[in-house]
Parts: sequence; C-alpha cells; structure tokens
Amino acid sequence: MKLETLLARITDNCSINDPYGASHLPIYQTATFDLKKQTGDVIYDYSRTDNPTRNALEDIFAKAENASGCTCTNTGLSAIALLFETTLKAGDSLLVEMDCYGGTYRLLKVWADKMGINVFSCDFLDHEQVEEYISSKNIRLVVCESPTNPGLKIIDIKAISKICKSYGCLLAIDNSLATFASQRPLDLGADFSVFSTTKSISGHGAAVTGAVAAKDPEWFEKLRYYCNAQGRAQSPFESFLITLGLPTLTYRLKVQEQNALRLAQYLFQREDVLKVSFPGLESHAQHALAKRQMKIFPGVITVDMIDNEKTNKFICNTKLFGEKASFGTVDSRIEQPSKISHHSYSDKDLKKIGISRNTLRISVGLENIDDLIDDISSALK
Ligand SMILES: Cc1ncc(COP(=O)(O)O)c(C=O)c1O
Repeated sequence: MKLETLLARITDNCSINDPYGASHLPIYQTATFDLKKQTGDVIYDYSRTDNPTRNALEDIFAKAENASGCTCTNTGLSAIALLFETTLKAGDSLLVEMDCYGGTYRLLKVWADKMGINVFSCDFLDHEQVEEYISSKNIRLVVCESPTNPGLKIIDIKAISKICKSYGCLLAIDNSLATFASQRPLDLGADFSVFSTTKSISGHGAAVTGAVAAKDPEWFEKLRYYCNAQGRAQSPFESFLITLGLPTLTYRLKVQEQNALRLAQYLFQREDVLKVSFPGLESHAQHALAKRQMKIFPGVITVDMIDNEKTNKFICNTKLFGEKASFGTVDSRIEQPSKISHHSYSDKDLKKIGISRNTLRISVGLENIDDLIDDISSALK
C-alpha cells in the first residue's frame, strides 16, 4: 500500500478495533482500563504503558517507516533521549554530526557527561573522518540528521550505514526535517529513525510530540520497555492531534517544496542575501545526493544576510513570517538559529557550523508564493 492510502485511512490500517466503526481515530482519554471488562485479544491496563489511541498512531508510523515497531513520546527531544538511554550505558561512546539541532546538542552536553558517555562530533560529509572516529573511539551509536538543521547538509545515509555496519555500531537518523514521506532511513540501512512530530508530520503546530522507530524487533521491545519505565509516553489526546495532519502530509510537503524552490530562487538572485542553502537548488553542494535520497525537498531554506540591518529588516518588517521556533507548519515562519533553536550552542561551535547572527532559517508554508515574495521584497527595501 502506498503512503497516501495508508495515511488517508488511518482507522482501517491500524490496530484500533472500534465497535462503532468510528471514521476517525477515537481518543481513549483514560489513565486506566478495567481488566474484568475486556474481551479482546489485546488487554490494556495503564495508559503510560499502552493506550489504544497511541498504539494506533504507532502502528501507522511503523508502517510508514518500514519499521518493526515505533514508540510515540511526549516530545521529539524525549524520543532522542529515549533512544540514547535505551542504546547507551556508562563508558559507551557516541558520534554525532556536528550540525545538529540545538536541543540534541544541549542534551548531549548536560546528560552525556553525567552518565559517563563519551561524545564525539565531526562533519559527516567527510566519510574518512567518520570511519576514523568509529574505528578508533569504539563508537556504539552514530546519530545524524539529514538534511541537517539548520545547515541543510545532506548526509549520505547509505554510505554512513555501510561504515557503521562494518564496525558493528548502531546508526540513528533524525528524520524530523525530511519525514517518512520523503525518505525512509531504515530502508537506507539505519537501525533507528527518530523524529519530532511537532513539525511537518503534524503540520499544524498544535502539539509538541515525537517518535522513534526501530528496524529490529528486539530494539523496539527495549524502546517500549524504557518508554514505560521512564514515563515518556505520549498522551492519547496528542496522538489524536497528530493524526489530524497525516492524510494531508505528502500533499502539504509537495506544495511547500514548490513554494520553497520559488523562494530560494528569488533569494538567490538578491544582492543582500550572501548565501542560500536549499537542497532543491542546483547550486547546493549535495543536490544530486538530495535528489537521490529524498522524494520531496523539505520546505526549509537557510540564508545568510549581508549585514545586521538586512537581517533585522527581514525579521521585523515581514508580515507573513512570524518569528517562531519550529518548521514544517502550514504557516511560514522565520528564526535566527543563534537566538532560538541553537541558542545553547557555544559561540565556538556555532562558528564551526557556519552560523552567525545573520543566518536565518525560513520555514515555507502553504501561503500563495507570490504573497510571500512580495512580503520579503517590501520588508527588505
Ligand atoms: C531536527 C530536530 N530534531 C528534534 C527536535 C526536537 O523536537 P521537539 O521540539 O518536538 O521536542 C527538533 C526541534 O526543533 C529538531 O529540529
């Protein structure tokens, strides 16, 4: 079954067994279930452990990611923390791509040291360096985003997974930006796909939630176990909210891709824009790989403005770009990574990944592209 059909018919394609044939997924907003009143094959007792609404969403995500199972968590960052806590123990080493989401960076800074986990980072475009780290540092888990946020580098997941396999270490891809509608990391050789469903998957920005999908059933069982043990489970109401955006996911992404391409082309020819990064542009260094690896280019563009004045004008004078965190939503938005999403980076590390105060991340929504371009054109006058 194709993804669009899976997502348009959630209740037909998941574990839910509603006696009334509800057309949309029912919300089982309850903490507990009465063991004496249950007659079905699956017995529920406590919603932290299992809940029919959340389990239905997990089924859909597992199918969408071609995983043996998926665990939905109370935030995207919580999914990343669950992955780390499930796969790593004191003394283990982890390798992370140096351009990673600020929350992942902060988590590794505060948590890894406390847990006795060694963290290394490098540029994953340099495969020799990745192999050098994996072989010499006895790496247990490799983690990266593709595209990276906010640099929008495209990491060759197949090539990195080959290196990981040859040294017996695990690979997890943060699929928040691309989503399973564009790329399926497990099919490219990764062991885990972890993603924030706060972004494009929900699309409407109504909930902060996440998920982690595992290729191997044993790892899935461990994730489930730790999710319950640590109380990271997603609430049934949030699972329901996420399902509202699913049937339109691929269609939203395709329009956002078209809008982003037009906007990137427009920004590219402006003299007050120093650099435009969008994997859909031929000028992007990994454009060929991006086309091979992703079905849809996510609607996110990163630009470097020529000076502070133009940066301020872009942020303050535009009317259709709210200054907001997050991306992938139906409304366009803009943020300065150094101020919001990557605020916890040290100045030295921001410089290393090429982020300055004039770097802006633009998330392109579903507005008419002519309005978006007019808005920027007036704002930058
Ligand atoms: C790439 C990436 N991964 C993970 C997260 C964390 O997700 P959440 O904000 O849902 O906790 C974010 C949030 O911006 C992100 O950009």
